[in-house]
Amino acid sequence: MNRPTLQDLSHACRQREPGHPVDPIFIQRWSPRAFQPTTLPREHLQTILEAARWAPSAYNIQPWRFIYSLRGDEHWSVFLDLLDPFNRDWACNASALVFIVSDTLVPSPDGTAERPSQTHSFDTGAAWAQLALQATALGYQAHAMAGILFQEATRRLSIPERYQVQIAVAIGSQASPATLPGALRERERPSSRLPLETISFGGEFQSLPET
Ligand SMILES: Cc1cc2nc3c(=O)[nH]c(=O)nc-3n(C[C@H](O)[C@H](O)[C@H](O)COP(=O)(O)O)c2cc1C
Repeated sequence: MNRPTLQDLSHACRQREPGHPVDPIFIQRWSPRAFQPTTLPREHLQTILEAARWAPSAYNIQPWRFIYSLRGDEHWSVFLDLLDPFNRDWACNASALVFIVSDTLVPSPDGTAERPSQTHSFDTGAAWAQLALQATALGYQAHAMAGILFQEATRRLSIPERYQVQIAVAIGSQASPATLPGALRERERPSSRLPLETISFGGEFQSLPET
């Protein structure tokens, strides 16, 4: 089975018309649930994580950490067990699963006083976005999942207490929606977005008028 090209992805995203010119990659990235149950070369995963590594963060603290399993390796079944049943049902066909966790403490330069980080989630969200865009650029898609067993993940993945589990990500090659069970098949389409005028304001916040 071949990976889809960027042209194929563009076709799948044709209902997503940007309101202003943007690089096509932002529209081509989306979150499918139909994946081909194939393996992902380790070097492709490394490129995807490398893109995340270059995300910006407050004070360049880089609070993100990535814990991954490649399809079929010795960790795969544990990783699948850490997804909620809804996500497990489709993500079992992904080629890689990545848990993204963030450091809730800001390390001090001299290793003495650490303080809570105000931005670890925000920073790690930037890393997730870069990860997803790089996956799309390689012809894969990355689907974030908050539907995971947070406490169980902390325990089974040996995550130290100071780190917060943020999401898991399923990465793989898109498959035909026909491979999904009925209810999911219906939902297998790229979503649209709120118009820019309703989310960006000149000068001060503006609430939408009541309808
Ligand atoms: C933090 C986060 C958590 C999400 N959790 C789930 C999830 O548990 N299961 C799922 O199927 N999709 C999940 N999604 C996917 C979103 O529903 C999806 O990104 C959103 O509908 C926008 O669609 P798009 O990514 O296709 O553009 C999550 C996305 C994000 C960013």
